[in-house]
Parts: sequence; structure tokens; C-alpha cells
Amino acid sequence: MKQTDEIQRRRTFAIISHPDAGKTTLTEKLLLFGGGIRTAGAVKSNKITQTAASDFMEIEKQRGISVATAVMSFPYQGKLINILDTPGHKDFSEDTYRTLTAVDSVILVVDSVKGVEEQTEKLMKVCRMRDTPVMIFINKMDREGRPPFELLDELEEKLQISLRPLSWPISAGKDFRGVYNLHEKNLHLFRPGKTVVEEERLLVKDLDDPVLDQQVGSNARRLREDVALIEGVYDSFSREDYLAGALAPVFFGSALNNFGVRELLETFVEIAPPPLHRETNLRTVEPDEPSFSGFVFKIHANLDPRHRDRIAFLRICSGTFERSKAFLHVRQGKQVRFTSPYSFMAEKKQVVDQAFPGDVVGLYDRGDLKIGDTLTEGELLEFQGIPSFSPAIFKEVVNADPMRSKQFHKGISQLTEEGVAQMFTQGKNKLIVGTVGELQYEVISYRLEHEYGAACRFEPLPYSQARWISSEDPQALEEFLRFRDRNIVHDKDEKPVYLAESEWVLNSNMEKHPKVAFHTNSDFK
Ligand code: G4P
Repeated sequence: MKQTDEIQRRRTFAIISHPDAGKTTLTEKLLLFGGGIRTAGAVKSNKITQTAASDFMEIEKQRGISVATAVMSFPYQGKLINILDTPGHKDFSEDTYRTLTAVDSVILVVDSVKGVEEQTEKLMKVCRMRDTPVMIFINKMDREGRPPFELLDELEEKLQISLRPLSWPISAGKDFRGVYNLHEKNLHLFRPGKTVVEEERLLVKDLDDPVLDQQVGSNARRLREDVALIEGVYDSFSREDYLAGALAPVFFGSALNNFGVRELLETFVEIAPPPLHRETNLRTVEPDEPSFSGFVFKIHANLDPRHRDRIAFLRICSGTFERSKAFLHVRQGKQVRFTSPYSFMAEKKQVVDQAFPGDVVGLYDRGDLKIGDTLTEGELLEFQGIPSFSPAIFKEVVNADPMRSKQFHKGISQLTEEGVAQMFTQGKNKLIVGTVGELQYEVISYRLEHEYGAACRFEPLPYSQARWISSEDPQALEEFLRFRDRNIVHDKDEKPVYLAESEWVLNSNMEKHPKVAFHTNSDFK
């Protein structure tokens, strides 16, 4: 197959949601459709249900499984679907944000009972930064959810994106009867059942078709009114707007009952973008360029201390990745080659000889690769846009066993490179760990102890916000750095970061220093 055909065939995306909205269930159902897995339950193993490090560690023990679910690929209707997995726990949301840099589109799952939740908004914000195309699946229609028009209004307002429903629910909860496909004008009747893959679809000529009344009874009138309202209020669906990240098509269904999932997948295959171009510090890289390039967006450590190697996940952006070929590791300025890169087809991890733009390969690494690293065939470019975001909790990490200081520092630096948490330094010796949630601290101390034989202690710090700072006026920046000396730290790239105790303190400093720019993520221009 030609390179361009390989590229056009690929659809690389992530399913994202606030925890519990149904991401895992939907992923599993999509894999069942694609033959990616044969049994229900195969995806669940990567999920953390409680806020306890022991749970996380339990998962980590099954590292083989979680590595295998980092990417799930399967062919469907002539396309090759690559689903990039994102962590189920909100304390690992940074990992999700990074994964979003490696996809070309997303499916956002929303719980019909809860509507827009905290994580839904945060994830959408990250999508908007890159104008990532978004499709929305409103899940759990078998529950007594909120009225669909109300949900759509809330989604539009809070997620700041225009919507276009492509299917419409017929009632909800116990009385949920199915969905009407606004695009194909057919009726899809709901029959509860968790494992059914085949679905029943009824064609209706138009909304006046008496079949509708026979099938859904008194709900038919309501459906007619709703559809008239939708056609009046919403513009018709524009793929161009969807691809520009300005318009999200919306589907209703129930992942648990495997209802509405096939429609979602079929539309996804039809409209979702193939691998897109990517920005670098020098120029835009197009996927169909002949030279290979790619970047690392995720690193998995090997928990077995006897085997220190890690697995770096590389998104291929252009050209062809080839096994054992020498590539340039741009940050280190040296040649690297990978003799057993692997891909993830169905339930199997297998060594690949070649991979194409849109694909993700796993590379064994002995500590050379960091998140954000670029590999090329020689060009000195670096991919952009793997930003760090402001953590919410900050603690100083102190070495609790002076005899094992070397192990402590090695462990801390490797764990940070993996993206377990963000590390900041203050002066020569003070190490500050910033996280989204407490679970990350538990994971760090567990892993320091078990993998590096080191011990640590965390001392809480009174900050709740981090802002990357810059100024076009060097004197103003200098003054601010001096004035707020106690609150200034440096990130992994030595960029200055201001830590504020509260939003109020932050705002008052922003007012006092109008020439200083305060950025919520590290990727500012
Ligand atoms: P997540 O990955 O987004 O965190 O969500 P997950 O798929 O694990 O789903 C969260 C809970 O919601 C699960 O129940 C799941 O069974 C349920 N769920 C998912 N889709 C639907 C749906 O369409 N309808 C209904 N009624 N429930 C749905 P749980 O009790 O937490 O877990 P489990 O014991 O069922 O595995």
C-alpha cells in the first residue's frame, strides 16, 4: 500500500470523560465492534476505582495489561482505528492532557444525569487549545437523565463549542425507547442487553410515517416536535466546522447496553480526520512528507527493579518509522535505533517492522527518552505543544534516608521524566513536587521505596496555583522575580514559575505587575 493510502486509512483518537461517565465501557464496546477484543471486561483492568495507592499498585502489577491497553488498534470498515487510552483517575489527568497531543480527534463522553462535570470542562479546554475535532456521546440514556435540550444548552455554554445533534433520544430512563437518526432518518429501537452487538434499526420514510406511532406510541408526537425544533434552532451539520474544532456532533445512547455505539463508530469513521499536520519549533510537519519524524508523549516504567528499561510511546508524525534504522534523537544530538519496537493490534503486542503517521509504537528505552522528545531522520526540529499545566497541590520532597541520597535523586528525576508529577526547584537544593491529587504523592513514595530503595517525606506548602511568567520588558520581569523571590521556582526546563497561595493573591499580583504575563501552562509563545 502507498504511504498516502496508509495515512488516509488511519484514525487516531482518544475517548475522554469525567471519571464514571462511561469512557471505559464505551472503549470496550468499540473494541467489541472492531473485533479488537473478544470478551467484555478486557478494558476494565486499566481502571483505578478508588483513591488509594494500593489500587494503583495493583494495576501496576499487571503492567503487561496496562501497557497493552495504552494503544488499542483494530481495523474497521477499511480504516485502521488507533484508540489511545487515557487514565481513568482524575489525579492522573496530566497524563490525559499529554495523550491529547498525540491524537487527531476525540470522543467526549458525557453522563446524561450529571451533564458537564469538572473534568469535562478541563479536557475540553485542552482540546480547544489545539482546535482538536470533538464528537460528543451523551451516555446513560437508560437512566432518568436531564432533558436533552437542557443538556445541549449546558454543553454549549460551558464547553464553549457549537453543537449539532445527529441523533435524538426518544424519551429517557425507564421509558427510553431508542434514538432517531436525524441524518439517515431511521429509527433505532432500544432493547436492554449488555452484550448484544447486532442492533435493530427501522427505516421510516419520514417523521409522519405511521411506523413511528406503532413503535413508540405517544412518544412519536414529542419526537416530531423536538425534531422540528432542532431543525429550526441548529444549523445543518458542517464537516468543515467539525474539523476546525468549532462544531461538535452529538449522539445519544447507552454504552452499557451497547446502544447507539455503532452509530457513533460509523459516523466517526466517516467524518473523523486522518493524521493531521503537527507544529514544530521550525515549521509545520505534514504527515505525507517522506522523512520520518515523531515524538514521545508517554513513558511507562518497568516496575521490576532488575529490568530498568522503560517503554516510551512514540507518535509518528511523518514518513515511515522502520525497525533498526538509525534516527536522530534531537535533544541529545545522537543517533538511536530500536531493534524491537512494537505495536498493539487487537489484544496482542507485536514487533513491527514499519509504522506510519498516526501510529503509536512502543520503544524500549534505557533512560534516554523523555516526554516531549523528538526523533527525526536528521532534521533538527522539535515538536511543540506538550505543555505542563498548573498543579493544584505543592509539597517539598525531602530525602528521608541520607545514606541513599543518590537513589533518591535518580528516582525523583526518573519519575518526573515519566510524568508522574511535576518537579520544580528552588535555589540549589529545594525540590518541590506539584500534583493534581494526593494519589500522586502516594505513588511517588511507593515507587521510590520499591524501585529505587529510597525513602522520602513530603512537607505541605501553602500554594494552590502555578503561573509560568514572562515579560517583554526584561526590567519588569527582573523586578517581579526579585520582589516575589520566595514564591519563584523553576520548572524542568529552567523556566521561571510563580507559585501563589490563592487565586486572590494571584490576581492582586497580576494587577500590581501589569507588564508581567502570567501563563496557565508552560507552552506559551
Ligand atoms: P469511566 O471509564 O468513564 O470512569 O466509566 P465506566 O465506563 O467505568 O463507567 C462508570 C459506571 O457507569 C460503571 O458502573 C458502568 O457500568 C456505568 N455505565 C456505563 N455506561 C452506562 C450506561 O449506558 N447506562 C448505565 N446505567 N450505566 C452505565 P459501576 O457500577 O461503577 O461499575 P461496574 O460495576 O458496572 O463495572
